[in-house]
Amino acid sequence: MDEIREKACAKLNISLDVLGKRPDGYHDMVMIMQTVSLTDEVSIERTDGQGIRASTNLEYIPGDERNLAVRAAGVFFRESGIAEEGLRISIRKKIPVGAGLAGGSADAGAVLRALNRLYGMPLDREGLVRAAEQVGSDVAFCTLGGTMLASGRGEILTRLPSMPECWYGIIMPHFSISTPELFRKLDGKKIRCHPDTQGLVRAVENGDLSGVCRRMYNVFEDVDDRRMRTVAEIKGRLMDCGAMGALMTGTGSAVFAVFESQKTAETAVSEMKGDHRLAAVCGNVGPLA
Ligand code: C5P
Repeated sequence: MDEIREKACAKLNISLDVLGKRPDGYHDMVMIMQTVSLTDEVSIERTDGQGIRASTNLEYIPGDERNLAVRAAGVFFRESGIAEEGLRISIRKKIPVGAGLAGGSADAGAVLRALNRLYGMPLDREGLVRAAEQVGSDVAFCTLGGTMLASGRGEILTRLPSMPECWYGIIMPHFSISTPELFRKLDGKKIRCHPDTQGLVRAVENGDLSGVCRRMYNVFEDVDDRRMRTVAEIKGRLMDCGAMGALMTGTGSAVFAVFESQKTAETAVSEMKGDHRLAAVCGNVGPLA
């Protein structure tokens, strides 16, 4: 087979805690992450020529090594010991960039899964994670998917039972947020409030959706940044539309809300559609690898 397709799924942070800055410049984190059904379509073709290139439907996304999907393919060949071949990676993007939805990491994870399948599964789960963590902090999670407790840079993963059945409304305002910029702002302040991660894990394990929603928390929402006012406004509107809980995902700017019913989620999202860059309804996705 010379062409292979794979879905790249967005992630949501059900919680996000930052414990401190590390000597390597990264931050130690504790997060609960969930794969959702907002997806990019990735397809990979072998080419006769040398080199790995990516193209997307968004012309401002680079097609060279700056693209995490290209980097993931290079790391796959190195980790598997397979001689590098020419590849053309095409990505149809629906996950917005700079949203905290891990779009780039999801594409990289999809490339790792797809190439592993294309070349007869040379990497086991540990091999996939080893490759993924060289590409980016969220890539290991995006490769394996499902519901996870993540720590370290985000690459130390413990699988949790699936989130209780629910629907998400995702709203992204008309601006994106740079992840390194928000980490720098967080470094300048004392974090006063942390999520109750253990309580959240118990709520997920017990299938207690209200318990999850009550405890959802992201320390980045407390950063001194005027864009957090817009985030708070979106959360408020989603709660007014009948959400059980709402939170910014990652370093934003996207916000998601949890709904018990698909219909309520769809009504809320359609009411907010006109004013935002993205307004989408999606559901939980289980393990991908
Ligand atoms: O690992 P990745 O390249 O995806 O991280 C992007 C940026 O996010 C890093 O350059 C760093 O500024 C920040 N980051 C961090 N600590 C983490 C993950 C990301 O400081 N655990």
